[in-house]
Amino acid sequence: ILEARAAAHAPDASDDDDEFDRTPDRAPGLHAWVEQIAALTEPDRVVWCDGSDRERHELTKVLLDEGKLIRLNGEYRPGSYLARSDPDDVARVESRTFICSASREDAGPTNNWVDPAEMKTELTARLRGAMRGRTLYVVPFSMGPVGGRLSKLGVQLTDSAYVVLSMHIMTRVGAAPRALIESGEPWVKALHSVGCPLVDEAGVRHPDVEWPCNPDKYIAHFPHEREIWSFGSGYGGNALLGKKSFALRIASVIARDEGWLAEHMLLIKLTSPAGRRFHLAAAFPSACGKTNLAMLRSTLPGWSVETLGDDIAWLRQGEDGRLWAINPEAGFFGVAPGTGESTNPNAMQTIWGNTIFTNAALTDDGDVWWEGMTAQPPAHLVDWTGADWTPGLGRPAAHPNARFTVPAAQCPSIADDWEAHDGVPLDAIIFGGRRASNVPLVLEARDWNHGVFLGATIASEQTAAAEGAVGELRRDPFAMLPFCGYNMADYWAHWVSVGRRLGPQAPKIFQVNWFRKGSDGRYLWPGFGDNVRVLAWIAARLEAGNAETGRGAGDASAADGPLGVVPAPGALDVSGLDLAESDLAELFAVDPAAWLAEAELTEEFFAGFGERVPSELHAELAELRARLTRA
Ligand code: PEP
Ligand code: NA
Ligand code: MN
Repeated sequence: ILEARAAAHAPDASDDDDEFDRTPDRAPGLHAWVEQIAALTEPDRVVWCDGSDRERHELTKVLLDEGKLIRLNGEYRPGSYLARSDPDDVARVESRTFICSASREDAGPTNNWVDPAEMKTELTARLRGAMRGRTLYVVPFSMGPVGGRLSKLGVQLTDSAYVVLSMHIMTRVGAAPRALIESGEPWVKALHSVGCPLVDEAGVRHPDVEWPCNPDKYIAHFPHEREIWSFGSGYGGNALLGKKSFALRIASVIARDEGWLAEHMLLIKLTSPAGRRFHLAAAFPSACGKTNLAMLRSTLPGWSVETLGDDIAWLRQGEDGRLWAINPEAGFFGVAPGTGESTNPNAMQTIWGNTIFTNAALTDDGDVWWEGMTAQPPAHLVDWTGADWTPGLGRPAAHPNARFTVPAAQCPSIADDWEAHDGVPLDAIIFGGRRASNVPLVLEARDWNHGVFLGATIASEQTAAAEGAVGELRRDPFAMLPFCGYNMADYWAHWVSVGRRLGPQAPKIFQVNWFRKGSDGRYLWPGFGDNVRVLAWIAARLEAGNAETGRGAGDASAADGPLGVVPAPGALDVSGLDLAESDLAELFAVDPAAWLAEAELTEEFFAGFGERVPSELHAELAELRARLTRA
């Protein structure tokens, strides 16, 4: 099958599918680049991908024949497959992720930096002959709806059919983005190899493995050239280059240069009982429930949440002066463990079929399972390593970072206009973290720059941190720590400048914390579907903002506090919740001494970025200290 397919698509075939000779080179550099990379990596064949169902079926067949996918039982999980990775290729490798800007300072203290010329020399050596015996796939794709005002184009070259199939789900692949590229639109080069040639230096062919990869990994970004070179990994965030590499790291640089924002944010539409619609974007560090919030099922009658995106949002000012948002992705690459009917029923329904699972466990009747899918594990499973598994072995059956890759269109809560070419007008931006102490359930920033301060200082506490005290804080500014493609302090300054340009049309900014604990160590807030109560208060504040000229307190819904604007007594709807009055008070309690200690840590944190921290953030820190001292 592979050979037959190769014959139909290889550049030197006489078949009329031969794209090389038929297509004039209207995309400056595209064909030359493909030829140059093919000459370097020496694949057996080059295949231009069209994103079609036929292509999907053929790639699936190839992967099944090669033993790289397991077909799941069609009765339970139609059109779905399980892949098991190499045990050393299960997650993003931040230590091997590089921002190769011209100077180290431009990458900033939060990124690994290597001189771009040096990195290209090193990777060129790695890539020489790296695709021997394999197929080089050319994958033209669009991030965002094809031709949309906020969308961007790219081409991924890869020697992994699993990556092509995943790109089919996660991006818009095919003839339409290719035509735009060939009409002269700008596009991003994304080169990927698993770094595992099948033919060695001596010309000897070796058998393939279930999950080819290389122990030496590089996820290298060249912001100036808008290029990505990824070597050695087949795993999601390292290999599906439209996602973290393009839509966040490279896009954040493009956004800086073009005056917009590329963010690690979910995107939702909230509808009130009166039918008013609000669009909210929210940034949370990993493991804070971003996908759950994106697919929330409301527990408040009349309120509903629809999903627009679960991981990435691109935000750009429209002609009306407002900030508009799209989800540049076409699918979800979600963490499976912890996803079940009780925590995220919409996600469970999304993955009814047409899903690629990676590193989940396999049930005896050919379905997948992971920790948290059901309360009771099945009596027997094949675990993510392919070994027999029974409950009580003391190790998880699914890898903790097992994933599902699924079309967003399958989500029962997906909004009708999730692919709108102009996106949706954004009403509010939310920042969150996992904080056992200090940070209240919700607060509203006094203004844009205060909101930027809240985003810049996002942190999660180490889970073992002492309750009630300021624990060890892991800072994750804007939840962009591993994803910002340039100097983090410059990125903060860019946020300040975007707010200045938006002026009074800027979305309001809020901070939330679902994870506050009482002095007895209990979570104080029920979370999940009840988080809609917090969203309803945010909506009330947005309505108030529409009626008022100013910000902050000034209507019945809110009161000014040292940290920001908080719900006035009774303004947060907690009806029907089993929430003690004292717990509610603790959710909003402010301990000035603990906060002054945290301000100390924030000053140290800012100091790590030196002179490039915008003065507006120093001013916010001073303002916080002044308010705490007065409190
Ligand atoms: C990924 O690892 O590919 C990924 C999507 O990362 P995260 O879930 O941490 O955002
Ligand atoms: Na990850
Ligand atoms: Mn993410």
